[in-house]
Amino acid sequence: MKIGILGTGMVGNTIGSKLVQLNYQVKMGSRSADNPKAIEWAKSAGEDAFQGTFAEAAAFGEIIFNCTKGEFSLAVLHEAGAGNMAGKILVDVANPLDFSKGMPPTLLPELTNTTSLGEEIQKAFPQVKVVKTLNTVNCKLMVNARLLDAEHDLFICGNDDAAKVSIKHILREDFKWASIIDLGDITNSRATEMILPLWVRLYGKLQTPNFNLKVVT
Ligand SMILES: NC(=O)c1ccc[n+]([C@@H]2O[C@H](COP(=O)([O-])OP(=O)(O)OC[C@H]3O[C@@H](n4cnc5c(N)ncnc54)[C@H](OP(=O)(O)O)[C@@H]3O)[C@@H](O)[C@H]2O)c1
Repeated sequence: MKIGILGTGMVGNTIGSKLVQLNYQVKMGSRSADNPKAIEWAKSAGEDAFQGTFAEAAAFGEIIFNCTKGEFSLAVLHEAGAGNMAGKILVDVANPLDFSKGMPPTLLPELTNTTSLGEEIQKAFPQVKVVKTLNTVNCKLMVNARLLDAEHDLFICGNDDAAKVSIKHILREDFKWASIIDLGDITNSRATEMILPLWVRLYGKLQTPNFNLKVVT
């Protein structure tokens, strides 16, 4: 299967590399056709790793991952092109963090509380099946839930049930997530994005990004 990864940061790199190892074909996209980080990644990740613009990666992927800086994700997706994504699943792992006033970051006010990045992406691209997941954990944990020797939970939400079934399959089989909590439609992404203010504080306290939450009843 072909995957488009939008983003050349550590998340795009980590998810892309893992998927190539699992025999997917992966094209990483960025603002330019000759992004040095993307070129380096494509050289080192293996024969099935390719790179190009955001639009080329979106057109390539049967499934697309949004791994871009949250404040620019909507602009990036417009650049990727609605036509290149229509009818496809977009896995949104981005968070609308605002680092402009230093650490810890806040959530961008126009993308939180009564809405969210995931919802705004779904509104802007109604032909795309947006699935919000993986945004509440560090990228190393995203692709290998067994990194923690404990029970822990991953959240997922989105409007299209069949799209969520496909992504849950990848999460379980490829990324080894044993416990996935389906919160419902895409409006629930405001809740998972609002975990981030807690996440960054726990990171400060624990001094490791390798931790997660477990919901008990
Ligand atoms: N780091 C983690 O473990 C983690 C965990 C959970 C969720 N997330 C979320 O995952 C996303 C990716 O995080 P990251 O740390 O890998 O990378 P990042 O530095 O947040 O984002 C990198 C991507 O954003 C694009 N970008 C940056 N400025 C831009 C601008 N002005 N206009 C258009 N695009 C721009 C870059 O494009 P170019 O390639 O063209 O430079 C690059 O592809 C973020 O939303 C983050 O909150 C991260």
